[in-house]
Amino acid sequence: MHNFQLSMPTRIIFGRGEVENAGAEAAKLAGKVMLVTGRTSTRKTGVLQRVMHSLEAAGVEVVLYDKIEPNPRTHTVDQGGRIAREAGCELIIGLGGGSPMDAAKAIATVAKSGHPSHEYITGNKTGRWRELLPIQEALPIMTIPTLAATGSEANNGGVLTHEATKEKGAFSGPALFPKVTIIDPELTYTVSPEYTADGAVDVFTHLYEAYLTGAEEARVQDHLTEGLIRAAVENGPIAVAEPENYEARAALMWASTLALIGIAGAGRGGSFPVHQMEHTLSAYYDISHGRGLAILTPAYFKRVAEDRPHRLARMGRHCFGVKATDDQLAAAETIERVIEWFRSMNVHLKMSDLGIARDSLLPMAEEAVRVGGRGQGFIPATRQLDVREVVAIYEESY
Ligand code: NZQ
Ligand code: ZN
Repeated sequence: MHNFQLSMPTRIIFGRGEVENAGAEAAKLAGKVMLVTGRTSTRKTGVLQRVMHSLEAAGVEVVLYDKIEPNPRTHTVDQGGRIAREAGCELIIGLGGGSPMDAAKAIATVAKSGHPSHEYITGNKTGRWRELLPIQEALPIMTIPTLAATGSEANNGGVLTHEATKEKGAFSGPALFPKVTIIDPELTYTVSPEYTADGAVDVFTHLYEAYLTGAEEARVQDHLTEGLIRAAVENGPIAVAEPENYEARAALMWASTLALIGIAGAGRGGSFPVHQMEHTLSAYYDISHGRGLAILTPAYFKRVAEDRPHRLARMGRHCFGVKATDDQLAAAETIERVIEWFRSMNVHLKMSDLGIARDSLLPMAEEAVRVGGRGQGFIPATRQLDVREVVAIYEESY
């Protein structure tokens, strides 16, 4: 196990009906807030009205910014940041999936600094992100997730797409930990079967990335990671089939928060190559993040089966019921079991199913390596994924 530091400062309020406390919690932090949400779902499901009502009943003044698209764009958060700054908002609340929560973090940053958000995302072609990261200052943030997937509700990162250059990159910093998150699993009842499955795959991927690429010896983290993967594997298909199954929704939601809050990966190191390869797909084609991860995972796992079969074998044995004692056989069987799990949630797909053009594979691979490689010319993984390797993974996933 490597040495590590871990900070988990976000206060977590979890459970059925807790969304009604949004106003009381916000009032402890601010008199005037910006409520950041997506363009459709929170209004349609009525959660937006519930949160607005709770805020107003607590005497909190609200500036609503309901313009966040899935895979949020820099220009959208820059506009939100300007409005929040001019209106004198003291707290930014992200209500929705990862997209509105990430956008809230970016708006909190831009509102404080006045810098455009593009300057904060990794890989940004201006090269200025190194000076500005990590983000030390931002307005206080609160999150209310409505979808179990990203873990953005309690971590200090976010992802933005800069449309002008098709870059999708991460930003992070100590100031971006939400002060408080209200996690009410009932808010996820209305998530479609497709997005429920995509979210479960995102949780799984957050867990397996460092587990497969990082330190061999991290025994507590192994058990934590495997337990959380099992929770996602068991409860994803239940939530897809029974959207109002509270315990399945609660398990998925809590697993998604814990997967990316730092504890599973602390002391492990490792990298996020499938995320790097996926972010370029969703930047170019605006596809769902979790769906893109499901598409790329089998081809990536084939490389892991060659490079570190014992790690994939261990995951298969502990999380997917694989029995083979030989690591090579167990690793191959794990890939089959993972595909079966994807199939059980109708998320075993190929890039061609989503209308991705074959001639974009090379430019996307070049972009993924540029952003994910940070000047090294490859994305670190169980092997160095250079442009040739990334194109090969894209081809096999097509
Ligand atoms: O469009 P809106 O109205 O927002 O509706 C959303 C959206 O269409 C809908 N939805 C959300 N909650 C719902 C609901 N529909 C019905 N009922 C509900 N309760 O679902 C669609 C997807 O929402 P989105 O927020 O885009 O999904 P997700 O949570 O998967 O977030 C994806 C974004 O997060 C980034 C991704 O790259 C992507 O940009 N990530 C953020 C991370 C982080 N901050 O730590 C880590 C992740 O690896 C990821 O990269
Ligand atoms: Zn993810």
